Amino acid sequence: MILSVKNMSIVLNELQKRNLPDLLCDGRGNKINNLKDWEGIMRPYLRDLILQIEFGKLPPYVKPEVTTSKVNVTFAGKAEWERVDFTFTVNNDSHTVPTQLIIPKNKPNCPFIIYLNFESQVPSKYLPIEEIIDSGFAVFSVCYNDISTDNNDFTNGIARLFTKSERKGDDSSKISYWSYMAMRMMDYLKTREEAKNSIIGIGGHSRLGKTALLTGALDERFDFVCSNNSGSSGVALSRCRCEGGEYLRIGFNWFPYWYAPNYEAYVDCAEKLPFDQHALVALVAPRLLLVGAAEKDVWADNDNQFLACVAASPAWELYGKKGLISPDKMPKVGDNLNEGNICFHLREGEHFHSRFDWNVYMQSVKKHFNIK
Ligand code: GCU
Repeated sequence: MILSVKNMSIVLNELQKRNLPDLLCDGRGNKINNLKDWEGIMRPYLRDLILQIEFGKLPPYVKPEVTTSKVNVTFAGKAEWERVDFTFTVNNDSHTVPTQLIIPKNKPNCPFIIYLNFESQVPSKYLPIEEIIDSGFAVFSVCYNDISTDNNDFTNGIARLFTKSERKGDDSSKISYWSYMAMRMMDYLKTREEAKNSIIGIGGHSRLGKTALLTGALDERFDFVCSNNSGSSGVALSRCRCEGGEYLRIGFNWFPYWYAPNYEAYVDCAEKLPFDQHALVALVAPRLLLVGAAEKDVWADNDNQFLACVAASPAWELYGKKGLISPDKMPKVGDNLNEGNICFHLREGEHFHSRFDWNVYMQSVKKHFNIK
């Protein structure tokens, strides 16, 4: 029984149709009912399973050399902006990933967000820097193509340093390389005086919303996770795709390099997966997860994004916290469920990381962490 839905017949009915693998039962049939076993047994089990089957393992840790330089354009003098270069060297081969760090002035201990971006320059379409710093957040942005390109070419970027032959099994995917880089950015932020007493989150949209979710799920140093319109193989459950939603097979055929080669065995039979995406969502517990959906983004399967948040909530309950707090109904446009530790909003409009989404996320972070 999922505690969060025990009084929710409409939502429970939808969930039961999916016949999800039990979040609190490992592959050997052992039932988990306490926090110690969740952290000691179930969490590592699910984490390893998801990497092995879905996204591929992360590359081995390499300490990058980091250099910084000041940028003189400073958003009307309201922020300090630095370009931070990360150089990774493996066997005499190296690759440098440029990133942008923008910290509002006179806002000590402000929250930071590491943002996986589609573009190198800032501000950009999905990243309205000035509005974000005006709301009191610092931004640390990286363009995913600068990490390794968004295609099947594993001979460029940091992928070149680690991928030695044709990928097979659980070899790293592009999503696992992008996620790895976000973790190295976190390592670096932890060395910065300005971030010493700050909360630090991760955000991304669409394929990068999937990546942000994976990163936050794996790396517990992230205090909050914004997964915007992440859809299939992101927040959305894979079982019982809704009308118009993405098929795992199509997603895999179009973008095989986002996933581990092992995933292919399941993309025509999601019901055989030993986990569903609620397990990935649950790995974020007990931290704050912010999920954004858009009315016309049918491909991202909003009902299945919502249901994954409900189904993941028992993981928060093991910590004595609430996951998603929702009335007993499927989501409707205009909903902003922000009372629990999973927040879910469904806005008007299309697939996009909009200023509206940013505002919802930033308000929820402030509310949750009591930031003025
Ligand atoms: C495709 C893909 C989605 C993905 C999106 C994006 O639509 O099927 O899974 O989220 O691209 O990243 O833009």
